[in-house]
Amino acid sequence: MRTRIFGTGSALPKRKVSNDDLSKIMDTSDDWIKSRTGIGARHLAVEESLTELTAKAASQALEEAGILPEELDMILGATLSPDKILPSLSCELQRELGAVNAVAFDINAACSGFLFALQTADVYIRCGQYQKILVVGGEILSKMMDWNDRATCVLFGDGAGAAVVGPDEAYGVLSSIQGSNGAKGDVLLCENRENNNPYVEGKKSLSYVSMNGQEVYKFAVRTVPNAVLKAVRQAGLTIEDIDLFLLHQANIRIIESVSKRLKVPMAKFPTNLEECGNISAGSVPILLDYVNQNGMLQRGNHIVLAGFGAGLTWGASVLSW
Ligand code: UT7
Repeated sequence: MRTRIFGTGSALPKRKVSNDDLSKIMDTSDDWIKSRTGIGARHLAVEESLTELTAKAASQALEEAGILPEELDMILGATLSPDKILPSLSCELQRELGAVNAVAFDINAACSGFLFALQTADVYIRCGQYQKILVVGGEILSKMMDWNDRATCVLFGDGAGAAVVGPDEAYGVLSSIQGSNGAKGDVLLCENRENNNPYVEGKKSLSYVSMNGQEVYKFAVRTVPNAVLKAVRQAGLTIEDIDLFLLHQANIRIIESVSKRLKVPMAKFPTNLEECGNISAGSVPILLDYVNQNGMLQRGNHIVLAGFGAGLTWGASVLSW
């Protein structure tokens, strides 16, 4: 029994902000951002909530899968930026969709979030506990950025992607790799809200995302190729058997480095960071929906999904589409 993706969906906020737009509110340039990252624009949520974006993506995925919301057994939401601390994004989404029979909870594994949620769904499906699971990954990171930190805020965007998964005899997830290194957690960090305990002295003010870009870069280029190779071998395949590699969209130079390390042409690495920037847990499912809706996947194709980011965390899965 395998866990197959039966439908995908995605949603981006209306407001698109180009590098040139950003250069009007901070000391940066299209040339700097593009040459260092490959990012040309990002969508920022001004009117939309994350619940609305994920509901839109989820509705598309459900429609393609031919499944009604009330048929869902489970909703797994991957995010580090839910609309509220309580209730979770997944419970808000359950309410929004009317998925009354689903159990719903969130997973926070930052940019690996969608991979970890898909891998969790895979375990529930293979053990037979649930049959119809909605997996979403989405973020509104713009509300958590330090807009005075130009080296970090220009990289990120908002949006959501979704996949509906269920059991299948032939196609689906063939192998999965997961990893974490909490000892390196401070290289990509966002501290908690202010401590309101009246007995605690020296309360800290609200903090925003901070990143040691070079450390994250080194971690990514070392870890991702190894995770991908391991997952491919575990699936009983070779790198040449893989038709498409859908990597977390953080930086084009990271993707180029992985392509070089794996000796696979860049043509097999579709990207959307030019238009979307880095959407953390949303980046892989949004890209997956793009390749799916644009006819870039044929039944039986082998694809790799891979994510990496804060935690530190990383994950890769090989699927037969
Ligand atoms: O999901 C995981 C997310 N994280 C990542 O993927 C991050 C991976 N790391 C990176 O992508 C790169 O480290 C960055 C793109 C974040 C930064 O590139 P870098 O080559 O490591 O640049 P840097 O931070 O060393 O900065 C180089 C220069 C500095 O100026 P000086 O000191 O050399 O005069 C910065 O002040 O670039 C300057 N700079 C900028 N200039 C214009 C930093 N940010 C900007 C900016 N516009 N936005």
